[in-house]
Amino acid sequence: MTKLREIYYCEICGNVVEILNEGAPALVCCGVPMEKLEAKTEDASTEKHVPFVEELEGGVMVKVGQNATHPMLENHYIKFIEILRKDKVCRLELKPGDKPEGFFPVKKEEIIEVREWCNLHGLWKS
Ligand SMILES: [Fe+2]
Repeated sequence: MTKLREIYYCEICGNVVEILNEGAPALVCCGVPMEKLEAKTEDASTEKHVPFVEELEGGVMVKVGQNATHPMLENHYIKFIEILRKDKVCRLELKPGDKPEGFFPVKKEEIIEVREWCNLHGLWKS
């Protein structure tokens, strides 16, 4: 059973889907069930995937990641960064060549989770 805000991935075509209306029994793409992505929280190598949140005046800056900047190449980049709050989701859509970071005008104490999706290494959260 799908749940609100879950993210699913199709290993065959690369489709990425976020659940906006929960309760469906399953998601199918390319004739097979989609994989529910579980966000990782630790990047053993250089911590370049885990979103780093810095509180600034008027909001927060989210960078991917803290100790090293994630690549933003044509074949390897951060596609989106999301901030989840109680009843709002803020999503910054990125493309190759952009900086893997963004400012969100939200209060840090309202944030439930920050997550990002790398087209090669999947979903990460902090
Ligand atoms: Fe990556």
